[in-house]
Amino acid sequence: MQDIDNSISIEAGEPSEDPKAFRRTLGQFATGVTVIATEQDGRPVGVTANSFSSLSLDPPLILWSIARTSRSFATFSTASHFCVSILGEHQIDVSQKLSSSKEDKFSDVSWQPGIGGSPMITGAIATLECSTFAVQDGGDHIILIGRVLRHKRHVGKALLYAQGQYGVVDEHPAFKAQASDATAPQTVRSLRELPLTTLLYLAHHNSSAAFERHRREENISLVQSRILSALTRQSPMSRQAIIRQVYMTPQTVEDALGELLQRGGLTQTEGGQFSLSEAGHKLARSIRMRLQEYEREQLAGIPPERLEVTRDVLARFIDGLAEKTVVDGAA
Ligand SMILES: Cc1cc2nc3c(=O)[nH]c(=O)nc-3n(C[C@H](O)[C@H](O)[C@H](O)COP(=O)(O)O)c2cc1C
Repeated sequence: MQDIDNSISIEAGEPSEDPKAFRRTLGQFATGVTVIATEQDGRPVGVTANSFSSLSLDPPLILWSIARTSRSFATFSTASHFCVSILGEHQIDVSQKLSSSKEDKFSDVSWQPGIGGSPMITGAIATLECSTFAVQDGGDHIILIGRVLRHKRHVGKALLYAQGQYGVVDEHPAFKAQASDATAPQTVRSLRELPLTTLLYLAHHNSSAAFERHRREENISLVQSRILSALTRQSPMSRQAIIRQVYMTPQTVEDALGELLQRGGLTQTEGGQFSLSEAGHKLARSIRMRLQEYEREQLAGIPPERLEVTRDVLARFIDGLAEKTVVDGAA
């Protein structure tokens, strides 16, 4: 087995010293995203949860945990039934709505009642209708164990959550390259023989890895860099507007806003709106310049007319809106 050099730690310490750092370490573990819901007095009650886990096949048990601080805590701690909806990749908005502190979280979420009236989210890729089997103490959370009475699975890809960001299930690039019969190490010649869709996929993985390296060198996380670019486009912005634009969970955005404020990258108005400070503009510029430099290096020596064709081809794969004539003319 290959040895992994984990001697370089980014953060370390006792959990009580820095709870946010502890949460980030826990966030290295990837999960799916669920909505867990029940009903009280005919009203739906629910939260977004990634603490869900399978527990036992016989009897069929699952578990999850809810924070004692959640407004839904009292309802779930005495609920006789609840339903777990496993969200699909198209349901980030559902995850964001059900994790918000809005009064009526279900107002524009579509659902049907399951066993015991517990809401099952429409469009979820799976649902598990449960009766409450046991409730255990779990520190500042309680652990709810559910006995699965009925399960349903639908087509669709799972929405994932790891390291503070949403993701989708995709093949691993190592598999993709090898499955395409390309010999490793890749030569320019063998790469040229791969199907275009495989090339697009591998190019995307390589460029995001390269970009992550640049962010690390600037000591900036993905969510921080998204906040900077959102505020470059539009300023000032409210916390809610930023959460909507960067597609990250409220907690992740909250932490990143705090970190950016602390390093002097943001200013905040009395009304709570955020803008970039001089230092924030500088940081955003420096990230943009790194991106431009990276592109310049990759594209060095390629004539502009060939780049135009590349752009057209890529646009076709993205939305089919490219000018067909340009591509035809170059063929
Ligand atoms: C991806 C994600 C996973 C979450 N997982 C949990 C969880 O497992 N348990 C929990 O108590 N809260 C979790 N939360 C936070 C709750 O969704 C949020 O605190 C809750 O909905 C607040 O609403 P309430 O006070 O109305 O209950 C998660 C949030 C997100 C975005």
